[in-house]
Amino acid sequence: MYAERLNKIAPFRVVELMERARALEASGHELVHFEVGEPDFPTAEPIARAGVRAIQEGHTKYTQALGLPELRASIAAYYDLLGVSVPAQRIVVTTGASAGLTLLNGLLLNPGDEVLVTDPGYPCNEVFAALVNAQAVRVPVGVEARFQVTGAHLASRWGDTTRGVLLASPANPTGVVQQREHLSDAFGLVRQRGGFSILDEIYQGLVYGEAPEYRTGLEIDKDIFVLNSFSKYFGMTGWRLGWMVVPEPAVEPIARLAQNLFISPPSIAQQAAIEAFSPQSMAVHEFRREQFAQRRDLLAAGLQSLGFQVPLMPQGAFYLYVDVSSTGMDSFDFCWRLIDEFHVAATPGIDFGDHQAERFVRFAYTTGSSSIELGLERIGRALRQWGVACS
Ligand SMILES: Cc1ncc(COP(=O)(O)O)c(C=O)c1O
Repeated sequence: MYAERLNKIAPFRVVELMERARALEASGHELVHFEVGEPDFPTAEPIARAGVRAIQEGHTKYTQALGLPELRASIAAYYDLLGVSVPAQRIVVTTGASAGLTLLNGLLLNPGDEVLVTDPGYPCNEVFAALVNAQAVRVPVGVEARFQVTGAHLASRWGDTTRGVLLASPANPTGVVQQREHLSDAFGLVRQRGGFSILDEIYQGLVYGEAPEYRTGLEIDKDIFVLNSFSKYFGMTGWRLGWMVVPEPAVEPIARLAQNLFISPPSIAQQAAIEAFSPQSMAVHEFRREQFAQRRDLLAAGLQSLGFQVPLMPQGAFYLYVDVSSTGMDSFDFCWRLIDEFHVAATPGIDFGDHQAERFVRFAYTTGSSSIELGLERIGRALRQWGVACS
């Protein structure tokens, strides 16, 4: 009765784990949550107040399909701050990066076409392709490559029906920022093959440590499609708002698609998001970024002192992708035993692909430092109780 594509769409394994976590919490247990892929902070107050004002002032109607001109101009001004000039006409406001992905797959892929994605990578990418009867082809880019995609990786999977690539930096689940030389090499290969490059920059802004080599992939190649979102750095997951930067000729066909698929992005969220770039709001985002940086260091040091390998210190997002193979357990069993016996939730690698999935677990530091410390203490106890020396 339902379409065949549904057979290819697997549920997240972490959902079962989260249900287990909820059940444990309902029966009075305190859980440590390392599985959550969204900031624990509420939306910054100036943005929230702008949202309330938008409702009170009656900004409750459809807007332009490509987004409010004022918001598109604010996003263009944000790129000026990042050091690249992006005309507001090339900015498309979307209902989260998820709608941006829907639009780009609709724009760029015919039935039977292939798009290359990384393994591990954001699992929903495959579903967006399946919805237009195209296929995402996984390119294994593992720890041996420091999770850095190169032109050679892409060339190894490029076939007759490949139309382009979808990369991410900083990436989910690894937190890895692609090095400029690798990204440039990857874009170069795609250009040579006459394909499209999409760069998912939804974690742009959440970069820690030394100054990044580049602030946006648009510095490296101005013709790529870039996805961004108000969800992560701007702390607005539930407002469902994102944006894209697209090459000029793509604006009109995207507008046609967006009008038909979504009519417009949410008006209240757009009004609120204008405020996301104000100095007051930016100060909140930056303060939170510093907190994420501290949490990253705390969690990484704690896991390392327990003997786990954090193969490289990821520079961005809010994830650590940790090798648990030295426990002798596969990552799926590790996660289940950890939640069942020690009430610590984390996401097994299987949710992000096949490549080395049995070895890796994603730990999100979207929880405060006291909770991180409690989680580390419990993991330490687990290792002792299970009698697995982890080194
Ligand atoms: C890499 C990546 N891309 C896209 C999304 C979708 O984000 P949203 O639709 O909230 O903007 C997510 C969400 O976690 C993500 O991790």
